[in-house]
Amino acid sequence: MIVDRQGRRFRNLRISLTSACNYACTYCVPDGKRLVAAQNELSADAMARGVEYLIEAAGIERLRITGGEPLVSPRLEGFMSRIGRMGLSDISLTTNGQLLARKLPILLDAGIRRINVSLDTLDPGAFRAIARGGDLNAVLDGMEQARAAGIRIKVNMVPLRGQNLDQVMPLLEYCLARGYELRFIELMRMGHLAGDQNAFLQQFVSLGQLLSLIGERYAYSQADAPVDATAVRYRIPDQGHFGVIANESVPFCRTCSRLRLSSTGWLHGCLSSSHRHYVGDLFDKPRHEALPALQRLLIKALGDKQAVAFSGGATVMKIIGG
Ligand code: 5AD
Repeated sequence: MIVDRQGRRFRNLRISLTSACNYACTYCVPDGKRLVAAQNELSADAMARGVEYLIEAAGIERLRITGGEPLVSPRLEGFMSRIGRMGLSDISLTTNGQLLARKLPILLDAGIRRINVSLDTLDPGAFRAIARGGDLNAVLDGMEQARAAGIRIKVNMVPLRGQNLDQVMPLLEYCLARGYELRFIELMRMGHLAGDQNAFLQQFVSLGQLLSLIGERYAYSQADAPVDATAVRYRIPDQGHFGVIANESVPFCRTCSRLRLSSTGWLHGCLSSSHRHYVGDLFDKPRHEALPALQRLLIKALGDKQAVAFSGGATVMKIIGG
């Protein structure tokens, strides 16, 4: 097991199935181009073997499948069918929900029981302006069908001043009424936002601002969350929970246990670091050759973690998200 001086180790693996996305959200894809996949994405086979090797080399226990948008990947089915028998304690997926209804059988077959759906607004006009692709009703319908099939749903919302702040309460109420747990994600300084302090500050909404908005209507209290959780969780009595992933207001790097693998075979130990380590070639090698090499790179990747807080980085969620 590889552990750093702060006692951190890799426990959670996030794998990006593809960097292609059928949205082009303003905060993530500033050039507005949709469905651009990276060259040289790994095969479903190589990715699945990568997960297997990383379970062994890093002690991975939990897997989250992300993108880009994972449900647009032609490798979805092949990958999902291989990861069920690896002894992971939890497999989940982050999606924008656009293709959820259609791909639900694949997810259910793979044993997925919980998903996170990114949804920034319930207003069709604002939806078009922020996501720049897709259809709002397809997302709502996809979530409904997933819920009916017994899947637990968390909804990710990135509150943006001037764009969807008026949606905080409608989305919260929508989620509470349906048993979805809403997660507000404080805007992160990624990609173009890392270098443009003005654009960042103009849009950024803090944990404190969210709580005072919610506090106008609901009494809430802080709820329990796992030690390595990124979200601060709150309970609204008799109604449900919501959370805030407060990268800026309550940094969580001290307990970060995440390792990320890109669709092209690069390991990222930290979203806020420009370092990455190529491992794609190792997944075609036999175990006894791959594991020692992988372990050496994992030590480097763990060393890339920030001490306290996310400080921003050139990487964007589209490449290595969730
Ligand atoms: N800041 C905060 N959240 C972001 N996401 C993508 N880019 C950013 C950013 N710069 C969100 C997506 C998705 C989740 C995986 O991350 O909206 O819900």
